[in-house]
Amino acid sequence: MNDLFDAIEPRDPSREVMADGAILLRGSALSFEADILSALQAIVGQAPFRHMTTPGGYVMSVAMTNCGAAGWITDRTGYRYDRIDPESGQPWPAMPDCFLGLAIAAAAEAGYPHFVPDACLINRYEPGARLSLHQDKNERDFANPIVSVSLGLPATFQFGGLKRNDPVRKFALRHGDIAVWGGRSRLCYHGVPELKEGEHEKMGRMRINLTFRSAL
Ligand code: SIN
Ligand code: FE2
Repeated sequence: MNDLFDAIEPRDPSREVMADGAILLRGSALSFEADILSALQAIVGQAPFRHMTTPGGYVMSVAMTNCGAAGWITDRTGYRYDRIDPESGQPWPAMPDCFLGLAIAAAAEAGYPHFVPDACLINRYEPGARLSLHQDKNERDFANPIVSVSLGLPATFQFGGLKRNDPVRKFALRHGDIAVWGGRSRLCYHGVPELKEGEHEKMGRMRINLTFRSAL
């Protein structure tokens, strides 16, 4: 049966369906790699990574910064998007063209041709850092997908359902992979368990994740 199906429509090993509306594009960021890494360096020079505090008073193990018109932040008063970096009092660095191009292309490839992000959250995981299961729900309009680019050390992506207790599937995320979720999956719970120790040839002892959203 599978053989017959494959004969009609061969499976594309670079695309993996995670759930209805959620897809993993393997290696899709690699052709933009050099531009992304140099743009990233410039952003981090202007808006350094920092460990933010959750409303509950917990200091996040993942260090974060942002670029684009709006940046995602958390402090004791809550989670939200803000046009201003609270550390500098200045607007977040602009979204580089290569980031925008990558996010738009990945969304289109995943079946979301109208996506234009205005926010990019940049997460830095060092070994031991983790992001517990959560929904991305601080954006104004859930009609737009999330585009999430993985760089550096490999991680496990937990992708669940619309309820916190729904079963979770696990996917390996490697350097250059892009996960896109929208439509019926837009509010699915997801998370990243503790990053394992390692050294990536280009990124060193860390994983960077770029999460593109249409937030405002
Ligand atoms: C996130 O949910 O914001 C980040 C997911 C990831 O690091 O892959
Ligand atoms: Fe998220």
